[in-house]
Amino acid sequence: MSVDVETLEESFDLVAPRGDELMKTFYDRLFETAPAVQPLFADVDMERQREALLNMLVVLRESLRDLDDIVPDLQDLGSRHVQYGAQPEHYPVVGEVLIGSMAEIAGDQWKPEYTTAWQEAFVVVQDVMLQGAATGAG
Ligand code: HEM
Repeated sequence: MSVDVETLEESFDLVAPRGDELMKTFYDRLFETAPAVQPLFADVDMERQREALLNMLVVLRESLRDLDDIVPDLQDLGSRHVQYGAQPEHYPVVGEVLIGSMAEIAGDQWKPEYTTAWQEAFVVVQDVMLQGAATGAG
C-alpha cells in the first residue's frame, strides 16, 4: 500500500490537537449528510465511539510509513463492521464527511492537496476493510 505520507502527516497534525472537536463535527455532519446510517449507532455509546475512531486515526497516522503492518488489523476492523451493519456503499460518504470535517477544523490552514491525499488514503483503508468484510477475517 502506498500513500502520500508527508502530506497526510502534515494535515493530520493540524487537526489532531482538536481531535474531540473533530469527532463531534464528524458525527454531526455524518448524521446530517446520511441520516440512514444513524440507526446503526442507536445503541452505541457515542463518547466511546468518538474516542475509538480518533484513536484509530492516530494509529493510522503513526503507521503511514509501514501500512502493511496494520493490514490484518484493518481487515479485522472491516469484518467487525459487517456486524455493525456497515454496507460497502456507506464507506464513501464516511470518507467524504471525515475529510470535510478535517478541512472545517483546520480552517484557512487546510490546502486542496490535503483533500486529495486523504481521498487516496481513505480508498486504500476502505479497500482493506472491505476485503476483511468480504472474507470474514477476524
Ligand atoms: C475507514 C472507515 C472506517 C473506520 C476507520 C472506522 C473505525 C471504527 C472504529 C475504530 C470503531 C470502534 C469499534 C471497533 O474497533 O470495532 C468503529 C465502530 C463503528 N463503526 Fe466504523 N469505521 C469506518 C467506517 C464505517 C462505516 C462506513 C460505517 C457505516 C455507517 C461505520 C459504522 C460503525 C458503527 C455503527 C460502529 C459502532 C459499533 C458498536 O459499538 O456497536 N463505520 N468504527
